[in-house]
Amino acid sequence: MIILNDLTKVYKLSKKQMTEQKTKKNMKKAVDHVSLTAAPGQIYGLLGPNGAGKTTALRCIATLLKPTGGKVTVCGFDTVTDSENVRKSISFLTNEIKLDPQFSPKYMFNFFGKLHGLDEKTIDARREKLFSHFDIKAFENKKIEELSTGMKQKASIAVSLVHDPDVVIFDEPTNGLDIVTARNVTDYLKLLKEEGKTVIISTHIMSEAEKLCDRIGIIINGVKVMDGTLAEILKNTNTSDLEDAFFELYKLNMKEEA
Ligand SMILES: Nc1ncnc2c1ncn2[C@@H]1O[C@H](COP(=O)(O)OP(=O)(O)O)[C@@H](O)[C@H]1O
Ligand SMILES: [Mg+2]
Repeated sequence: MIILNDLTKVYKLSKKQMTEQKTKKNMKKAVDHVSLTAAPGQIYGLLGPNGAGKTTALRCIATLLKPTGGKVTVCGFDTVTDSENVRKSISFLTNEIKLDPQFSPKYMFNFFGKLHGLDEKTIDARREKLFSHFDIKAFENKKIEELSTGMKQKASIAVSLVHDPDVVIFDEPTNGLDIVTARNVTDYLKLLKEEGKTVIISTHIMSEAEKLCDRIGIIINGVKVMDGTLAEILKNTNTSDLEDAFFELYKLNMKEEA
């Protein structure tokens, strides 16, 4: 279970960032009083355009950023006061994860398994399951540097799931992947959900949110403007697909800002 209670994150901007972001303010409220609950056995999708605050929110959940305000708990542990226990319960996946180019997927997997304190038998069983699903076996002994982007991504995902975490946090899971690999990844997320894991992802892809997520939280300018099941969101916005719903909320939110 992941619970966000009024999560707020404000970044202090450097002069350079102020110029880049074309603003005169030296603060950026990236996440603005967001509350949500992601439950076990569900995939929660944070849906929003670039810069909406999705990565920031996920990094707060993953203990990589400290909230400016509000509170986040993961499996009952506070991400600030109990970050150690949170980190043991989660896997945080981004496509920025880099495995050491000198080593093979199998070596990295075993290494991280040991780092998590798993015994050899458990590591072998986990590797068998994950490497089969992601078709890694054929290249498990090749050096990471010799692999294609898709292969590297699959290896990173497998390695980050070695400890069979209860909570999986995945920032833009299919970004940059070819359609076959992307499908491979979303299929695994469904499997995790069926195993009763709590899965939270971010995405800007409407069809991904529509097809994959049990609950969708729409986030615009750091504010969660609506959340619910797809059916609830369509009903509340009086629309018939998620893209229309999104633009209804987008127009409304922009008017309020103006
Ligand atoms: N380290 C940072 N310092 C300053 N501003 C940042 C930083 N990271 C993100 N931001 C700003 O915060 C906002 C939200 O960013 P982000 O969480 O990356 O959004 P998303 O993942 O939805 O694209 C953006 O305006 C972005 O420019
Ligand atoms: Mg992002």
